[in-house]
Amino acid sequence: MVNVKVFRLGYADFFSPVPEKMVNYYTNTMGYRITEEKDGITYLSNGVDHHNIVITPSIQKGIRSYGYQLDGQLSLEEVQEQLHSIGIDSRLIIDGKPGISRFVELNDPAGNIVELFTEMGQPVVGFGTSGILPLKLGHIAFYAKNFVETIEFYRDVLGFTFTDKIGEEFCNFLTCNYEHHVLNIVASNETRLHHIAYQLRDAGHQYASSDILARQGLSVLWGPSRHTAGHNIATYHHDADGNVVELYTEMDVYIPELDIFEPRPWHQKLPLKPRKWEGLSSWGTEFEVDLAKI
Ligand SMILES: [Fe+2]
Repeated sequence: MVNVKVFRLGYADFFSPVPEKMVNYYTNTMGYRITEEKDGITYLSNGVDHHNIVITPSIQKGIRSYGYQLDGQLSLEEVQEQLHSIGIDSRLIIDGKPGISRFVELNDPAGNIVELFTEMGQPVVGFGTSGILPLKLGHIAFYAKNFVETIEFYRDVLGFTFTDKIGEEFCNFLTCNYEHHVLNIVASNETRLHHIAYQLRDAGHQYASSDILARQGLSVLWGPSRHTAGHNIATYHHDADGNVVELYTEMDVYIPELDIFEPRPWHQKLPLKPRKWEGLSSWGTEFEVDLAKI
């Protein structure tokens, strides 16, 4: 029995072949603030944490690692013992990242590097004064080889809960807190980022963010539309490296004690329980880009 419990997505660490462009995107477009630059690596914050985004120079692009915060009920040594007891290797990393003095590193069944930490420095740099200024880093969607094992890993080992899925095989949504999803795992024969998502205040913020993107020459690829699973109003665009970024608002709020989502006027079934959906847009809008195949 494992009782390791993740309660939030802390950060995503990106490899970037053009790190100065990615840093420019995160500072000037998104409005993030730089907290530290060390060994060529840039750490950026959404207001409080030492980092929520890390840009690591590399010859490749994509994700270097994902950081998840644990509830702190177990020490990192106890976490390692529990993982070891079910045959999962992990490494305790000391001073591996500024802002996090200790974390446990392991590979999920899809091959992603996962960094588990209990504490992160909070320099409280505040919000920027220009750019999109999302409320927070909300979720990660990734294509996963070993799709079934990967879902089981996040659910049975790291304490996530299944919420919804689209189709039988396309993707599964998992949460580790009250939000409809913190992870969206998409079946594939390769592992890579599908999109990274940031929460906005409201629909007005959504439109303003699209205006900011347009002024900076960044096209909206898909949206705005209300999703089926999660009911978030979403738009998607490319960051400086071509990674897909979602901006969303009005995501469903999960009540684990009742296994339902807080009722909303746009829900077609009440009470709304975790379920299987078909299609991506609850408005039936069709876009030129197939979001299922980005
Ligand atoms: Fe998303």
